[in-house]
Amino acid sequence: MSPRGIERRRLLGHVGSAVVGAAVAVPTTALLLDTESGHSPSSSPTPGPIPISPYGAHQPGITAPPPAATAIVALDLLDEVDRAAAVRLLKVWTTDVVAMAEGRPVPGDPARDLAQSASLTVTVGLGHRAVRRWGLDVPELARVPAMRHDRLEPRWCGGDLVAVVGGADATSVAHAARTLVRDARPFARLRWQQEGSWRGTDGSGHRATGRNLFGQVDGSANPPAGSELFERTVWIPRGPWAGGTTLVVRRIRMTLDTWEELTREEMEASIGRDLASGAPLTGGDELSDIDPEARTEGRWTIARDAHALRSHPSRNGGARIHRIGANWTETVPTATGSRVESGLLFSSYQADVDRQFTRIQQSLDESDALNEWTTAIGSAEFAILPGLREGGWLGETVLT
Ligand code: HEM
Repeated sequence: MSPRGIERRRLLGHVGSAVVGAAVAVPTTALLLDTESGHSPSSSPTPGPIPISPYGAHQPGITAPPPAATAIVALDLLDEVDRAAAVRLLKVWTTDVVAMAEGRPVPGDPARDLAQSASLTVTVGLGHRAVRRWGLDVPELARVPAMRHDRLEPRWCGGDLVAVVGGADATSVAHAARTLVRDARPFARLRWQQEGSWRGTDGSGHRATGRNLFGQVDGSANPPAGSELFERTVWIPRGPWAGGTTLVVRRIRMTLDTWEELTREEMEASIGRDLASGAPLTGGDELSDIDPEARTEGRWTIARDAHALRSHPSRNGGARIHRIGANWTETVPTATGSRVESGLLFSSYQADVDRQFTRIQQSLDESDALNEWTTAIGSAEFAILPGLREGGWLGETVLT
């Protein structure tokens, strides 16, 4: 196991023993508790959905393992929603978020039998217009400038409010997303909703980094949740937003028809990592860092435009982000029937949009082998609220 793997195991073992939040719910980092192999014990089957505590210094969906099912809803505020109304909305959502996390129906739930333990997390944030309207100062929230390779469609862009719902199954997640949109009706209208799925277990049900629809292991180089590196990368350190973060959501189309024409070697060269294991082409295992300077027979081992190199901190002034992916497909009608589009619902969490996400995105826009098969068709930025304290409400540090 790589030193980083050992470090991750040690750290998570420690954090996992902490007792936080509601009696039945566990802190998100405990869900990452690993064993010698870096994965769950081979003797025990995948446990049923464990409730994740909604309480803590940070909203828990950001540090939890990528959920099997995701729905992200973005809403637009009605004109008359002032700061006082915003507080009312956030209090309503807080009640919902806590009930959902604990597997209980929300007040007045018309489909209360759908409420059950599903490891639900809801991550709530505010878009540019909400921040401006309510006089909140979030210097870390910047707009991502237009990129040469973008083909943005307004139907997947922007939004004044966001709720990222993650859970163990798509039915519970769909119900939770609908509930949040319905309860926000006096204040806001749905702008867009995007869904995706992720498989975070291997064939035997052990926890594993998931794969995107190109078949690549995706998420390996994320800073380990709970590590000092993660803390530095993700959380806004001070001020009313301390413990919050920023989120960039990109809807990225992946052109599988032309991707599938590549040889396996070409696929691996475009990313700089082995398809089967996810290990860098410069050696090691999945969690090993790439060696940007390695050479094979006098030539770079990792191509200069390989995605893992262009996005690497060594090429971006040390900038890092925390990525959570969800795979999507969409059936599009055609003159003769229909076709399916595929892609990645890409969530990037970072303390500062400009200095982290945009820095890396610009480097990728300039030169990334993957640009031939990937196109951003949606984009939105949000300031994610700090965590919830028991008896408190989401947003209380920024709105009072
Ligand atoms: C459909 C689009 C994309 C695909 C298929 C993709 C795929 C991958 C894969 C397979 C890896 C290597 C394994 C890993 O560390 O996770 C990776 C790494 C990475 N990607 Fe992407 N990615 C996409 C879009 C993006 C975007 C839009 C950004 C940011 C603007 C980004 C930033 C990164 C970063 C920072 C790394 C880690 C680099 C390192 O530290 O080694 N990716 N990506």
